Parts: sequence; C-alpha cells; structure tokens
Amino acid sequence: MNLVNGINLWKTYNMGEGIQVNALRGLNITVNEGEFISIMGPSGSGKSTLLNLIGGLDTPTKGDLFIDDKKISTMTEKELTTMRAEKIGFIFQTFNLLPSLTVRDNVEFPMRNLTGAKKMDKKSRIKRAEDCLEIVGLDHRMNYLPAKLSGGERQRVAVARALVNHPKFILADEPTGNLDSEASDNIINLLHEVNQEGTTVIMVTHDKETTKNTRILKIRDGVIES
Ligand SMILES: Nc1ncnc2c1ncn2[C@@H]1O[C@H](COP(=O)(O)OP(=O)(O)O)[C@@H](O)[C@H]1O
Ligand SMILES: [Mg+2]
Repeated sequence: MNLVNGINLWKTYNMGEGIQVNALRGLNITVNEGEFISIMGPSGSGKSTLLNLIGGLDTPTKGDLFIDDKKISTMTEKELTTMRAEKIGFIFQTFNLLPSLTVRDNVEFPMRNLTGAKKMDKKSRIKRAEDCLEIVGLDHRMNYLPAKLSGGERQRVAVARALVNHPKFILADEPTGNLDSEASDNIINLLHEVNQEGTTVIMVTHDKETTKNTRILKIRDGVIES
C-alpha cells in the first residue's frame, strides 16, 4: 500500500516585496509501506521542505498529498496535530530535545498528544518511554538532562522519542549531520532495525555512506530527478 502519495506538489514562499521562492515545483513522490527511502540532493533543493509537508508541519501551496490514503493537504492544524502524533516519528539534525526535561521526560512527551482510545495515563507513558530508551541502549541515562549527553546519545534519545507512539513512519532530516562516523553508524543501524520491524523510514541525507540498502530519491530544484 502507498503510505505517502504526493501529486504535483508546489511550495512557494513569499519573501515580501513581491518576491517568491518556489521550493518545490510540481514534485511527485510515492512511498510504499515498509520502505527505507534516502532523499539526497544539493543544499536548497527542497529536501527539508518536502519532509515538512509529508510530516504535516507545513502545507503545500498547490497539489495533493495523501498519507495512508487520507488527504492531509487540506487538513486543519488540529487534525494535523493528531495525525502527526499517531503516525509519525520525527528526527532532526539538531536533535530538538527540550533542554529542561530529563531524557525520560523528553521521550514521554509525544505521548501527551495522543487522543481518544490511544490516550495513555502517566504511568503507562513512563513505562513506554523507558522501554524505548532500552531499545536505543540508553536506559542508564534516563535521569540525565540532554546537555550532559554526547551528540550521538542525544540523537539516540531522539530515536527513542520518535518510536514511542508506534509510528507508521519515521521522518529523519539529516539525522547524522552533526555526528562522527561511529555515532552515525549507530543511528543508521538503529533506523534499519526499526525498519525491519515494519516501520517505514524516510531520511534526508548528504552522506552516501548512510544510504546503503535504501531506495535513493534524488531531488534537484524542487523536483525528483531520479
Ligand atoms: N521558511 C522559508 N521561507 C523562505 N524560503 C524558504 C523557507 N524554507 C526554505 N526556503 C527556501 O526554499 C528552498 C528549499 O529549501 P530547503 O527545503 O530547506 O532545502 P534543503 O533542505 O534541500 O537544503 C531554498 O531556496 C530555501 O532558501
Ligand atoms: Mg534541509
């Protein structure tokens, strides 16, 4: 089944004074359930813009975008928030952990956005956070603040946080961009493990090393070229 279906996606940023930037220019993309996709392309080619649209963090100027057969290009902000919490795990280059929360609380946080039947009480949320920290090998760091961790450890916290809500897919924007090669291998291996358990992974990367055993999409000037 198609997990992501983007048809003729345009994203235009208005820079003021009548100046516009077309970050995406009629891009088409399909991702099937279970795939591991690497998106590569020069700086400024639209990679992050595309990931933000797929993640419902931003909406396309034109075109249709379906996630799991549901049209998200016209969803309200509230509907998008629920969709994100239920279906997507995000990992960013700069980790994006909350500095004042412990590792455990950072990982617990996304579960607070679950609604309806998926809602969890605090105790179950903490248990699930701890289980995910164990998966990434950081159960001994639960009470630490992010500032006390290495870059590689912070990104493993981000992976645990991305996993807590059992997402259908993970969106990772240059997840190894700030890591040395050992920490980078560690994160890529984790993502492959998660993928083998059935979670689809869509990753933006600059580093060819990280794309082994993935389907590579090349983006240039706001369209997919191969
Ligand atoms: N919020 C924004 N406002 C204005 N222009 C933007 C914004 N985000 C991205 N752009 C522009 O859109 C183009 C694509 O950017 P981006 O998707 O970040 O590229 P990449 O991730 O491939 O480096 C670039 O020209 C960038 O300057
Ligand atoms: Mg980018």
